[in-house]
Amino acid sequence: METFEAINKRKSIRGYTDMQVNDDDLEKILDVANKAPNAGPFHITVVQNSEFLREINDRTKENMLASEGFLKERASIPGYEPLYGAPTFIILSAPEVPFDEINVACSITTMAIAAADLGIGTCYVVSPIQTLIEDYYMDRLELPEGYVPISGILLGYESENSMPEVPREEKNNINYIK
Ligand SMILES: Cc1cc2nc3c(=O)[nH]c(=O)nc-3n(C[C@H](O)[C@H](O)[C@H](O)COP(=O)(O)O)c2cc1C
Repeated sequence: METFEAINKRKSIRGYTDMQVNDDDLEKILDVANKAPNAGPFHITVVQNSEFLREINDRTKENMLASEGFLKERASIPGYEPLYGAPTFIILSAPEVPFDEINVACSITTMAIAAADLGIGTCYVVSPIQTLIEDYYMDRLELPEGYVPISGILLGYESENSMPEVPREEKNNINYIK
């Protein structure tokens, strides 16, 4: 696939089959995670343990339902699962340094495009972060000292009953100074 085709094909997938991403593809995706533009440290945790994924999912849903506004509304959709049944969840963590969120975002975006190139679905997610910073999850993640989860990306193959995609609005957000 050409680069522009992968970028244009990438979209958030919100419903996955049980089929796991194979290790070769996963390694290719993880390899480019460290080739994104970068201005500081971050750590990558790959979660594929189905029980742990279920715990993160369920606790995230609880937290979303206990919140207000958009997150509560999303979690109230019948059958809503914050991890959408994805078999792989990659969590990016960083110490609290300048650009921590930007470094993570660059890396996740690069992984998402690489995954699209391999025919693998992804979704950038921050909704589980509130859960992951709880003591129980921090212990389980075994992160380097001082690192906190910032964002994550779900990986897998789209299921037939995934949530319908939200059409992108036409954006008039470019100006030229020539
Ligand atoms: C910082 C960030 C956080 C996001 N968090 C979530 C999330 O928690 N759950 C979710 O379903 N999508 C999440 N998304 C995905 C966006 O909703 C999605 O990228 C956007 O609607 C554009 O749609 P597309 O990815 O299909 O092009 C997030 C995206 C970004 C960049």
